[in-house]
Amino acid sequence: MFPLQRGRRLRVNESIRSLVRETTLSPSDFMFPMFIAEGENVKVEIPSMPGIFRRSIDLTVEEVKELFALGIRAVNIYVKVDESLKDNTGKEAWNSNGLMQQAIKAIKSACPEMVVMPDVALDPYSIYGHDGIIENGDIANDATNAALVKMAVSHAQAGADFVAPSDMMDGRVLRLREGLDAAGFHNVGIMSYSAKYASAFYGPFRDALDSAPREADVVVPKDKKTYQMDYANRIEAVKEALWDVEEGADMVMVKPGIAYLDIVREVKNAVNVPVTVFHVSGEYAMIKAASERGWLDHDKIMMEQLMCIKRAGASLISTYFAKEAAILLNK
Ligand code: PBG
Repeated sequence: MFPLQRGRRLRVNESIRSLVRETTLSPSDFMFPMFIAEGENVKVEIPSMPGIFRRSIDLTVEEVKELFALGIRAVNIYVKVDESLKDNTGKEAWNSNGLMQQAIKAIKSACPEMVVMPDVALDPYSIYGHDGIIENGDIANDATNAALVKMAVSHAQAGADFVAPSDMMDGRVLRLREGLDAAGFHNVGIMSYSAKYASAFYGPFRDALDSAPREADVVVPKDKKTYQMDYANRIEAVKEALWDVEEGADMVMVKPGIAYLDIVREVKNAVNVPVTVFHVSGEYAMIKAASERGWLDHDKIMMEQLMCIKRAGASLISTYFAKEAAILLNK
């Protein structure tokens, strides 16, 4: 009898394939990253991210309602603040009436069931484009943590459901948990960017917020390699994720996505909290660019990548494709 096994029996037609499919996608698997701009009625497309816009708060709220109707249940929010508000302390980050805080309030009042997860890191507020405070030519870890706590508490006061530290400072999850609890926000969760790599895939995001590390009057690191991880490392990702869980993270994140799926699986096997994956700006840009040229089938590549991220172990995927993928899934 040859062949001994016939795996193709389970692939005969789409009905059979659907019966044995191991992984499924639904709109509630996605979080949508949103860029917020000052002003009113502002909607500016990011050149390196076709279809993604910086929106003022009024238009953001309209978009959030649409996302909710499509089945998306979480948004990650990032702000682009005016240059005049930037300094080396990042103090605008905890202004109770700042752009982020106003955005959180507006979204929660228009769509209370949408889970709002603001980014916690100083880069949009830093004159140097770094995620923390610069002292003696490097990012000062503990001083930055103190600033991040003020920032996170101000997000919680504005109504955030989760805070999402993306800065990679040591010990920040513990400090954020203590700070949130001390302020009475026991139910505000922490989604920690635990294994965040120093990646060139973040280029378009930094264009969107004008937040790339820049030349300065004092010595500053030219890149983020003293805090974000070296992409040659795998075991280190597990170490970082376990630390964050121990410090109180409710969810951990691996970032970027597609080139890092070995890390996703490794972290998934090591922790007992949901693992999230950030399918980042450069990954979005690559698919858009290749499909604009007719070199790749946009929708098929989008769904394949999202499914593969989920298969690798993601419980949730932060992706700029969230809306387009949800529309396809709802068809
Ligand atoms: C900032 C932050 C970055 C991203 C999310 N939060 C950029 C960076 O670390 O330089 C990247 C997201 C993306 O590329 O889509 N702390």
